[in-house]
Amino acid sequence: MLVLWMCGIIGFKGKGNAGKIIFEGLKRLEYRGYDSWGIALNSAGLEILRKPGKIGSLPAAFEGGSLGIGHTRWATHGGVNEKNAHPQLSNNRKIAVVHNGIIENFLELKKFLSSHGFSFASETDTEVIPNLIQFHLAEGLSFREAVRKTLLQLDGYYAIAAVLEGSGTIIGARNGSPLVAGLGRNEFFIASDIPAFMPHTRKVVFLDDREIVELDDSIKVFSVDSGLEIKKKVQRMHWSIEQVKKGNFAHFMLKEISEQPDAIEKAAMQDPARLKKIAGIIGKADNVFFVGCGTSYHACVSAEYAFSEIAGKSVKAVLASEFARHIKSLSEKSVVVAVSQSGETIDLLETVRAAKEKKAKIVSVVNVAGSSLPRMSDETIMMNSGPEICVLSTKSYTAQLAVMLLLAFSLCGRAAEGRCIIRKAAEKAAETIRKSLPAAKKLAKKLSKKQDIFLIGRGNAFPSALEGALKIKEVSYIHAEGFAGAELKHGTIALIEKGVPVIAFMTSESEKQITSNAMEVKARGAFLIGIGEKKSEIFDEFFEIGGCDEAALIPRIIPVQLLAYYLALERRLDPDKPRNLAKSVTVK
Ligand code: F6R
Repeated sequence: MLVLWMCGIIGFKGKGNAGKIIFEGLKRLEYRGYDSWGIALNSAGLEILRKPGKIGSLPAAFEGGSLGIGHTRWATHGGVNEKNAHPQLSNNRKIAVVHNGIIENFLELKKFLSSHGFSFASETDTEVIPNLIQFHLAEGLSFREAVRKTLLQLDGYYAIAAVLEGSGTIIGARNGSPLVAGLGRNEFFIASDIPAFMPHTRKVVFLDDREIVELDDSIKVFSVDSGLEIKKKVQRMHWSIEQVKKGNFAHFMLKEISEQPDAIEKAAMQDPARLKKIAGIIGKADNVFFVGCGTSYHACVSAEYAFSEIAGKSVKAVLASEFARHIKSLSEKSVVVAVSQSGETIDLLETVRAAKEKKAKIVSVVNVAGSSLPRMSDETIMMNSGPEICVLSTKSYTAQLAVMLLLAFSLCGRAAEGRCIIRKAAEKAAETIRKSLPAAKKLAKKLSKKQDIFLIGRGNAFPSALEGALKIKEVSYIHAEGFAGAELKHGTIALIEKGVPVIAFMTSESEKQITSNAMEVKARGAFLIGIGEKKSEIFDEFFEIGGCDEAALIPRIIPVQLLAYYLALERRLDPDKPRNLAKSVTVK
């Protein structure tokens, strides 16, 4: 059976407490997957712990040690059970491997290994890796060379970390899945993402594809293909430890919703000259595509409206997974704006690869520094939102909106004014959080048993309706759908009956039409909730957001984010880790 992974991995070498440090790191990586978890500690022998389910507690026997690796898993195929959890072991139980990604030729490799007497205990593709390493060690290769030779046999995307009993080193490698090394004081880390080791060090080395990293008494990087050492730059991250802790908040989701005013401000602090240059590239292009997935795609749809309304430039929003049909229309005069919080979403990376082959210019809008996307782009705008730990995108979404608006303003020579409008939106976001939090909490009690929630918006509030619906359904599991205001009556209005909640985004541009659409559902018994600048008595509940001109789309989403959060709590769900989801979607 094919097993795909989208997981978190960590490796640590230091003076002690390895088990505890790996365990704490795994908890900070749990947003990447939480079906099962495991640790391999290299102490007297190789000690293995593997558990299905979310990360539980660490047995005292696993707290110590000076070297080990850990894994938290998100599986798309294959049972969630102890034998499929990582680390996966070699037949001689001397090599343990954790892996994120997919080995496409694992069946072929299994056949090869079986013909040499190897057997397999799991359904995973990963299990071929420790066994191939065992095979190559038996040929007399060093640990690093045995791993390298193994990697040369693998097809597919991966990030791995491997330990060999008694070796005193950890070997990691990346090809398409993220991996970053951390340099502490006599402590060395590798992980899928920086928050895993952030309390210990902020000095990092970003690995590129087809690189091997060796953690010993230092960090050394080598090419998978040549085996030669590569000199890498050590970078210092400016994220603070507080950003990866919940602090006084019950959940990361609420913390990150609350951080939005600051995130919006930071997103707007772009170098004006660079913005002007990038806006110029977009302005001159024959065709411009804004591409993303999920919430990032909704920000792209907002860009369609913003560019047309603010700068009179027509751009197209496309889902990354559906971009193939546009490839033929790309040329060196095209621009693809790739929008992503993580910078690792595989569908988007594939779009960018295909667009580069057509010589299109790539501009990326990204949050995670050192991720794959900026390295593939001609120009990158960093969103500077800080780490987003909750699986749901909240602050990264409003930061994306701020960047889109800023680009549109820059394109028509209104960059300074645009920055002021976005700053005002940041203030209004703070006010909206303060004012709507108690009302959202109360409303969640009323709506928590509903089956469906519909959201409507016209003009630039249409993408807000799409995003609001996604927030509600992914965290509360209540079915929610977003529509352009007038579309509901082309079919879905058949579902409106007494008490069905409908959220209407009221904008100054579409006040009359959206009021008519709201009245149409009210006439059929809908429970009507309004979000807008001007309260109207047609609504059963109303969230008032302060005016901020073209940037009104920023504060407008906040009451729905809060409602979604409290709906999850009412339904006794964990808002930070909705079922079946993972933050970084690195599989197709
Ligand atoms: C929803 C959510 C996802 C992501 C999508 C793209 O709350 O978080 O829909 O927006 O998986 O992820 P990035 O932005 O990392 O490319």
